[in-house]
Amino acid sequence: MLAGISSTYLRRGLLSSATRSPRLLSSTRLAPSLSQNYAAGMKILAVLYKGGEAAKQEPRLLGTVENQLGIRPWLESRGHEYIVTDDKEGPNSVFQKHIVDAEVLITTPFHPAYVTRDIIEKAKNLKICITAGVGSDHVDLNAAVEKHIQVLEVSGSNVVSVAEHVIMSILLLVRNFVPAHEMIERGDWQVSDIARAAYDLEGKVVGTIGAGRIGYRVLQRLVPFNCKELLYYDYNPLPEEAAKAVGVRRVDDLKDFVSQCDVITVNCPLHEGTRGLVNADLLKHFKKGAWLVNTARGAICDKDAVAEALKSGQLFGYSGDVWNVQPAPKDHIWRTMKNPLGGGNGMVPHYSGTTLDAQQRYAAGTKSILENYLENKPQEPQNIIIGHHGYETKAYGLRK
Ligand code: NAI
Repeated sequence: MLAGISSTYLRRGLLSSATRSPRLLSSTRLAPSLSQNYAAGMKILAVLYKGGEAAKQEPRLLGTVENQLGIRPWLESRGHEYIVTDDKEGPNSVFQKHIVDAEVLITTPFHPAYVTRDIIEKAKNLKICITAGVGSDHVDLNAAVEKHIQVLEVSGSNVVSVAEHVIMSILLLVRNFVPAHEMIERGDWQVSDIARAAYDLEGKVVGTIGAGRIGYRVLQRLVPFNCKELLYYDYNPLPEEAAKAVGVRRVDDLKDFVSQCDVITVNCPLHEGTRGLVNADLLKHFKKGAWLVNTARGAICDKDAVAEALKSGQLFGYSGDVWNVQPAPKDHIWRTMKNPLGGGNGMVPHYSGTTLDAQQRYAAGTKSILENYLENKPQEPQNIIIGHHGYETKAYGLRK
């Protein structure tokens, strides 16, 4: 059945992984300024996360400071300066020191260097920000537009990785897995204490906020669970055949949407229209005891409102890997919040999109974006968030 819709969906990048995406190259992307020679001597700054011992032992941890996306020899052989750091906070950080004259900035959403308007003001030579992964909300995109800085990401590179994590997170909440495992580690055995809060996913209504590459893959993976209904909320409607293929129904009012769902999964980018979208007011419209999974961005959900809803039982579970500040402070309430039965917390550090498989794809994708830039070749349209003429994506909010 999917074969018939694949060409439409390949165009939106929904059915393909990054490696299978069409190499649709646009000939309109080159700004006049790009005709200059980029051959050598460029400063490229990368802010990655520290991998420690694990990164020394496991070279496939490519997204780390130690393994540097695997591109140092390639860049240095071309005469470029490649600075890699995890030191990103404050005016004396390595990031802020080198951003002043770097031409290319590589960041990851996992250890985000926050490229604020102030930083963009300081970055006098910055031409392109490359997100090694998916999700460029850590860059002030409107400021980038104003300063004609391109922002690209490796679209599709880790969408399967996240979709699998979403399915796992839904199941671990609905089936009350975490308290069950903790009980076993404690040496206890009281089946009723776990079973009183454990359900089947079959027969539940599951909805996704955002039905793009990840949201659609989540829906595809939910099909065999025989849910009562699959719903989505997104201002970009799915093509009819794609919706039909997974049997999903669109609900165009958010309050109406959340009030129908037993499980809600958040799969939209963070932008002006989604910051704090799941707040105390919206949570009141959730079904009592609903489960919420957010692997999109922490700041889409109001930290304190979620913790309060979980404590009261309005939410019965909250799970995800994204936090409003990363790394999350030790006392962040999402680390320890619980439902009235002492469970319902499936939080982990931000890693769903940085499996070893995903790292290979986003490292290769970063190199390909860099190569296009260095060789003055057009970029793949699907990777362009901010191009030479502003927003090139419809995923970061409705704009004129
Ligand atoms: P995508 O661009 O393919 O799809 C995003 C969808 O969200 C689009 O259909 C868009 O119309 C929709 N959307 C935007 N604003 C919305 C709103 N206000 N309400 C409802 N829908 C809205 O993006 P993709 O690849 O599916 O990724 C989505 C997000 O997931 C990324 O932007 C990123 O923040 C997050 N992500 C998290 C990862 C992790 O490791 N936890 C890894 C990869 C992505």
